[in-house]
Amino acid sequence: MKFIFEKAKLENLEEILNLFENSIKNSCANDYNQPQILAWVSSIENKDKWIKKIKTQYFIITKVQNKIVGFGSLEDNYIDLLYVHNNFLRKGIASFIYQTLKEESKKRGFTVLLTHASKTAISFFESKKFKIIKKNKVIRKGIEITNFEMTQ
Ligand SMILES: CC(C)(COP(=O)(O)OP(=O)(O)OC[C@H]1O[C@@H](n2cnc3c(N)ncnc32)[C@H](O)[C@@H]1OP(=O)(O)O)[C@@H](O)C(=O)NCCC(=O)NCCS
Repeated sequence: MKFIFEKAKLENLEEILNLFENSIKNSCANDYNQPQILAWVSSIENKDKWIKKIKTQYFIITKVQNKIVGFGSLEDNYIDLLYVHNNFLRKGIASFIYQTLKEESKKRGFTVLLTHASKTAISFFESKKFKIIKKNKVIRKGIEITNFEMTQ
């Protein structure tokens, strides 16, 4: 499958948030418990934060038949977001988004990428030669969510 990307626009916000919620609820349920899933998803409530990400980050979307099936975002050499719709997993969509973010980061003069990967995304990042540096804890709505700082 060949993919193309577009820069995310504010008009894509609702679709991006729906995909974010769908992805976490469907793809991460084996790795996180229900309170953690709901706390993680609750970040969609802070729309200003998402608007800021779309405006200030290198934020891209991938569409299939005019529907967003994946998105990713970059700040300098930091991969902030990377989500693929659960009906479109293992088709290379995250790899395509990752490669696009990596090229942009390189253009900006960075050679090493960093991320905070969910448990669900560790295998993906390992496939891109990332290694875990340390375990990290995020507190959302008073609930602890573990992720992993990873770099290449
Ligand atoms: C992580 C995620 C973005 C990967 O998306 P994807 O489009 O399915 O990934 P790709 O198809 O590009 O996978 C590339 C390679 O990564 C590895 N990989 C991806 N998902 C994997 C899984 N569930 N288990 C094991 N390896 C996996 C494989 O090596 C895969 O290559 P292969 O399919 O040829 O074996 C997707 O699972 C997702 O959205 N997860 C939930 C949200 C999340 O946790 N996002 C990260 C936040 S930090």
